Amino acid sequence: VQIPYQNPAFRLLGDERGSLIAVEGNKDVPFEIARVYYIFGTKDGVERGFHAHKALKQVAVAVRGSCIMKLDDGQEQIDILMNDPAKSVYIAPMVWHEMREFSEDCVLLVFADQGYDESDYIRNYDAFMDAVRLAKNSATALSS
Ligand code: TYD
Repeated sequence: VQIPYQNPAFRLLGDERGSLIAVEGNKDVPFEIARVYYIFGTKDGVERGFHAHKALKQVAVAVRGSCIMKLDDGQEQIDILMNDPAKSVYIAPMVWHEMREFSEDCVLLVFADQGYDESDYIRNYDAFMDAVRLAKNSATALSS
């Protein structure tokens, strides 16, 4: 896949008592962690996300339950089943994402490299596609 998405397994620090995962910035996620938020108690049938970020980098993990994360870089789309607290999904800048089919018990934990900033959101899909085309054209212009 072209989408800059990775699904690394977090280091599982388990023993006979059970499991533990530690997440450190610049080590377990590819950035300094500035913000952590989590989505839980999602009502049946609800779909969330429907935006891309201009610059924000995020790593998401379903620490409990499951959901489906769609990633779309403007060229291709992938659906990722998130149902493992040891596996993460990297949401790069300029990747449109949508989450759906949350299980009742789903807790989706997200690490981000910047604080909340509404001006970093692109919430309109046509505007997102325009920005993708613009970036592609300027990259082509630079290389020619
Ligand atoms: P929203 O962006 O709608 O969630 P999503 O698109 O991921 O489904 O966020 C819901 C509300 O929470 C919105 O008013 C913005 C606010 N919010 C913050 O204040 N801080 C945050 O870190 C996040 C993620 C959202």
